Formats: sequence, C-alpha cells, structure tokens
Amino acid sequence: MKISIVGTGYVGLVSGVCLASKGHDVICVDVDQQKVAKINAGQPPIFEEGLEALLQSVIGRKLSATVDLASAVKATEVTLIAVGTPFDGNHIDLTFIEQACRQIGAAIAQQEKYHLVVVKSTVVPGTTDGIVLTTLQQCSGRKAGRDFGVGMNPEFLAEGVAIRDFMNPDRIIIGGIDQRSQQTLRQVYACFPDVPVMETNTRTAEMIKYASNSLLATLISFSNELANLSVTLGGIDCTEVMKGVHLSEYLSIRQNGKSIPAKITSFLNPGCGFGGSCLPKDVKALVAQGRQHGQPMNLLDQVIKINQGQPERMIEILMRHMPELQGRTIGILGLAFKEGTDDMRESPAIPIAKALLQRGACVLGYDPIAMNEARHRMPEGTIFATDLDQVIQDADAMMLITRWDEFRNLPQILQDLGRPDLLLIDGRRLIDKQAVENYDGIGLS
Ligand code: UDX
Repeated sequence: MKISIVGTGYVGLVSGVCLASKGHDVICVDVDQQKVAKINAGQPPIFEEGLEALLQSVIGRKLSATVDLASAVKATEVTLIAVGTPFDGNHIDLTFIEQACRQIGAAIAQQEKYHLVVVKSTVVPGTTDGIVLTTLQQCSGRKAGRDFGVGMNPEFLAEGVAIRDFMNPDRIIIGGIDQRSQQTLRQVYACFPDVPVMETNTRTAEMIKYASNSLLATLISFSNELANLSVTLGGIDCTEVMKGVHLSEYLSIRQNGKSIPAKITSFLNPGCGFGGSCLPKDVKALVAQGRQHGQPMNLLDQVIKINQGQPERMIEILMRHMPELQGRTIGILGLAFKEGTDDMRESPAIPIAKALLQRGACVLGYDPIAMNEARHRMPEGTIFATDLDQVIQDADAMMLITRWDEFRNLPQILQDLGRPDLLLIDGRRLIDKQAVENYDGIGLS
C-alpha cells in the first residue's frame, strides 16, 4: 500500500521504516527540513537499536521523506498521524494533531478518491472521533465515513527495542469509525498474518493504549511502595520479596521443574522510578481526563505521586551513609530513562542530580549513549565524565540509575581500579548486593 506518515519522531520514523521494510511504499512527512534531509541521507535523527541499518535498506527505494504534506497525502491511500502530544500538566496538547488534521483535510479536499486517516499518536479517549474527525470534515468539506475514513491505531513500542517490537507485535488494535475504515487499516497490517488483531471503535482503541501503560506504571509504583515499607520495617530485601512474588503461578510458568517468569514481572521490581516519554505522561493525562469529567482516578493519582517520591528516596539512602553532601562528588551512572536509548525525558537522573546539587554536592554524570542528550537535559552544574573509569576514580559515591549492561561488571571494575570500597547506591538493584563491599539500594534494609 501507499502510506504517508506525518511526524518523524520516535513512533513515526520507526513505523515508517518498518512498514517500508515490510513492502509498503512510505512517505514520511515532517515540518523540520533538517530531519527530512537526514532521513533522506539514511541518518535517523534519533538513536534506536537497528534503526539506521533498516532505514538505509529502504531509503530511496521504499521510503522517502518530505516537508510537503499535501503531496504526500495525495500520493498515498492512507495517512498515519504520529505527531507529538506534549502534556502541559493539565491536558495533552493537541495543537500538532489539529494542525496536521487541517493540512490533511485540505489535501483530501483536492482529491476524489477515498483516503483513510489514522491516529497513531497517543490521544485521550474521544479525540479521534471528536477533534480529529471534525477538523478533517471542516477542512476537506467532505464527509467522514462516506468520502474518507478515520481510524485509531495505538502503538506499543518500548524504546530501545522498538524495531523488534514493531516487527513482532503482540497485538494489532484496529480502531475505526466504520467497517471500511477498519478494513482499510487491516490491509496496512496484512503483512503480519499471525498476530492477534482486535477491531473496535476509536475510543476503545484510545483507551486500550492508556490502560496498557497505566497497568505497567501501577505495577512499578506498587513494587516501589512495598520497597519503601520494607526499608522502614527493616530486615527485608524487597528485591527478594518480588522474586518470591514472581514465582506465583499467576506470574510464572513451570517448565521441566524450572520456573520461567512471565515478561510482566520485569515491571514488578523496586527501583528509583519510571521515566520516559510514555508512562509518566500517559498516566498523568488519564488522571487529568478523569478529573475533568468528574471521575477522580485515585489509584493512578497515587501511582504518579509514589513515582515522584522515588528520587528523594535515593538521596535518603545516600545520606544514611554520607550525611553531609556539601563538596562531595557523586557519580550518576546512567542518565537515560532506561537502557538501550539516549532518551532522557523524565529520567529519574534529572531530579536526583537536582537534589544533589541543591545540597552542595558535585554531580558527575555518565551514560554510555546519552551524553549528547544529557548536555542539554541535565541540570546546570552537572559535570560529565568521559567514561565509567573516570567516575569510579573521581567519585566519593555512585548512584546507579540506568540498567546498562556496561554497569553489570561494576564489582570487577571497582576491584581493578583499586576502589573496592567505593559506595554504590543501586537505584535499579542491578548488582548483586554481596558483590560490592559498600552497597545499598532501593528496597534494601
Ligand atoms: C513503555 C511500554 O513498555 C510500552 O509498551 C509502551 O508502548 C510505551 O511505554 P518505554 O517507555 O519505552 O515503554 O519503557 P519501559 O521499558 O516500559 O520502561 C519504562 C520506565 O519504567 C523506565 O524508566 C524503566 O526504567 C522503568 N521501570 C521499569 C521501573 O522503574 N521498574 C520496573 O520494574 C520496570
């Protein structure tokens, strides 16, 4: 099929490159001329494992990028909207969605043939059959359902493994205002014959995305609340508690006498909190929508509050060992919100660094991939280390924030560099507590 995708951010570009590699003819559209030029030169503007190679295999052949939205819409049968929906604290900002819809509508006005417009951005329930549909109708002068279709197709890509996730989806949610919209959208995904497909209306499709992410966030905050109580009670290691919980038949399967944990258990671990562009924003947006409609979301409200408290927990743990932080150098290992990405949005490293700087500490940050991103995201005053060795040599204590593989070897590296007694506060409980002399972490008492 011929598909245009508006927005070459994370979701748009990964979807575009993957759909092109599956055989579709894809045109990526962005207002940013520099991004468009980079994509056409085979250089993805973001870091994502495997993206560059895949982009280079399709660029100029099955995929191209342009700033000309109208021609892209005219040259294709389906347009996916994958523009950003930033959150301002009260609601998600639909300016970019609306802008895209106005331009897509204007392009639809100039053509006779049926066109399907699909929202792929995460939007609160009611957006697609509300503002999206009405803007398209107004700007095209055509009727939705008769002259063009409207769909909603949430993405479930986890950063760092987005290509793998797109190419091996666990489900495909086809939201549509009518059967023709759903059928057309189904054709886009006909290249994934063995994947469970669910057809529904656009509001339900929108809610499925929020429900999925809210569940993951809830599991994380659940683990963190238990971790905090474990510390208060004393004598409990919450990482072990959660391992015991994972063994339940609800969360593991038994194979040849061995227990294999289900993937969901990777969200049931104590830590310094969740970040990223999805979980914090999506939960907040749903809470805000509930509030606006007179339906308070008490549980999800607490999920956010617990998460916001975790960075301070890290500082408390550090200060148990080092009551005076003034003038001390604290290494932050990992600045990205998770491993496998350079994305620093809502990374716990940011509030942790702020809290340290406020207490007069010197913050020495290091990340194997996110250093460039970190230079304009970390609070002013942060110093950046060239490598892990420098942190180990210069720091008075270290805090581990991101589960990078490089850090798994810390016990050995500490030995090798002659600093076996350097204090490590493990915000991800990545390292075996027995393997480091001076170790503490979330959920440990
Ligand atoms: C998430 C969902 O996983 C994905 O399905 C959805 O489509 C988008 O949002 P992503 O934001 O890329 O993906 O990251 P994810 O791997 O889910 O991790 C989210 C955050 O939670 C990270 O900061 C991670 O470090 C943190 N986390 C994860 C915890 O704090 N504790 C855990 O037990 C697991």
